[in-house]
Amino acid sequence: MVYTVTAMFITKTEKIIADKFIKDGYIILKVEDSKRLRKLQNFIVKSISKNTKNKKSNLDILNSYYMNKRNKDLNQSRLRIYNNINNNQNFRKDFYFLAKHGLDAIVGNELVMQNKINLSIQNPNDHSSLLNMHADTWSGDSPYEVVVWLPMVDAYKSKSMYILPAKYLKKFQKIFLKNQSNQKYLYSKLKKYFHWLEIKFGEVLIFNQTLPHGNIVNKVNETRWSLNCRFKSIFSPYEDKKLGEFFEPITIKPATKIGLKYKLPS
Ligand SMILES: [Fe+2]
Repeated sequence: MVYTVTAMFITKTEKIIADKFIKDGYIILKVEDSKRLRKLQNFIVKSISKNTKNKKSNLDILNSYYMNKRNKDLNQSRLRIYNNINNNQNFRKDFYFLAKHGLDAIVGNELVMQNKINLSIQNPNDHSSLLNMHADTWSGDSPYEVVVWLPMVDAYKSKSMYILPAKYLKKFQKIFLKNQSNQKYLYSKLKKYFHWLEIKFGEVLIFNQTLPHGNIVNKVNETRWSLNCRFKSIFSPYEDKKLGEFFEPITIKPATKIGLKYKLPS
């Protein structure tokens, strides 16, 4: 179905966010509640280090994690922390409130949120946790989803991720048609068009997962810690990831609750 958009009744701020998101496929915003962000970061630091009385800051503890953790043991630790995060009652709620207004402007205000928050830990020179260039829709995600990506440390250069802005999609399609199965070829032809995202701790990224994106081996001498989670509008079409299995409604409004229950008198 193709719609012609005839009216856009949105505020100035919403328009700035919407235009940037459409043009580049992503937006980096200041988190909306720095207390909640600290809470999440403290929770992760406590999960990795029993001794939090040392004089190091949270950022130092997270950035220098690779010094105490061999790459081959990384996934086991990641899973343990991932389970801690997802067993915590408030973690997802705090996560959502860091980007609430950005999500309102981009996705809507009746949202479903992924049941689990993903955790990524990328040590320097670790080849095992790479995400080659991909779009999530290629493996069954709905094009109506967005990803909220939250670094727990400063993310920059190879310690971050890249994305192909929407304006290069035609170029991508041409190159993709020539040799779609060769990742190295695709990456080398497209890398000059990528935006390498610089996201400081205290900022949050919302991105369009239908656009090609990925990461490379982290060559910065610091460990990258990031969380990510998907959101979509409750009544938008679903693909492989279903409501009630993968997504949970988080902001359903009274009129919708009434409508869902309503039966005509008979
Ligand atoms: Fe992805």
